[in-house]
Amino acid sequence: MKQRLVIGNWKMNGSLADNILWATHFRHGLKSQTLQDVEVAVCPPFPYLQSIRSILPDIVQLGAQDVSSECIGAFTGEISVNMLKELQCRYVIVGHSERRARMGERDADIAEKFKLVSLAGLTPVLCVGETEQERAHGQTRSVISHQIQTVIDRCGAHALRNAVIAYEPVWAIGTGVSAELADIQSTHAVIRAQLSDNGLDADDVTLLYGGSLKPGNSEEIFSLPNVDGGLIGGASLKAADFLDICWAAQ
Ligand code: G3H
Repeated sequence: MKQRLVIGNWKMNGSLADNILWATHFRHGLKSQTLQDVEVAVCPPFPYLQSIRSILPDIVQLGAQDVSSECIGAFTGEISVNMLKELQCRYVIVGHSERRARMGERDADIAEKFKLVSLAGLTPVLCVGETEQERAHGQTRSVISHQIQTVIDRCGAHALRNAVIAYEPVWAIGTGVSAELADIQSTHAVIRAQLSDNGLDADDVTLLYGGSLKPGNSEEIFSLPNVDGGLIGGASLKAADFLDICWAAQ
C-alpha cells in the first residue's frame, strides 16, 4: 500500500508558547503508539519553524505555508525556497485558496513557485479546488483541470513526480462541512485521469483531500480509493485531534 501523508496547516494561528506546547504534546502522543505507513508533516507560521523543528522528532516533517516566486533580492517580506531548505522544510504549500483569494495569486504565479520548490529538491503541495460559485455552475472539473494544467505546461509533467496535490473545495475549508465522500472520490479520479493523460502513474503523485477533515470523518475519507491522505487546517490546531487523524491514516 502507498504510504499515506497527513499534513497539518496551522495557518496564522498560535503564539510561540502555544505552538511549543502543541509540539511537546504531539511528541509525547507519538510515543504512545507506533505510526506505520504514514508520513506526518506540520506547517507552522514561518517565525516558528525553527523552534518547532527542535522539538518534534525527526519522523515528523516540516512544511512551509507558502514561498516566494523569487529566489533572492529586494523583495521585502518574502521568504525564499533556499531559506525554507535551510530551516529543514520538506514540504511547501503552493496555491492555497486563501492566498489565491486574498493575495491575488494566479495560476501562473503558483506554477512559478511550484517550479522553484521542485528544483530545490523540496516537495510542492499544490492546492486546487473550486469555489462555491464555480461548483454551483458545474465548473469543478474545468477549474481544477486548469489549475493543474498550468503547472504541467510551465514545469513539465516530470515536475509532478513525487509532488503532492491537495484537492480542497474552497467552500469546505473551515466550514465544518466536508465534501461528500462520492464527490471526493470522483474528483480525485478525475485528477488521476488528467495526470495519467500527461504520462504520470498513480504512484507518482500523492493526492490529498482537505476541507473540514477532522477526527470524526478522517477514517472514511482516508478509506476512499485515490485518497492518499489529508491536508488539515482547523483540526490540526489541537495536538490530540491531529494525532487521532494521524492514527486514522494508518
Ligand atoms: O490547509 C488546510 C485547508 O485549508 C483545510 O482547512 O481543515 O480548517 O477546513 P480546514
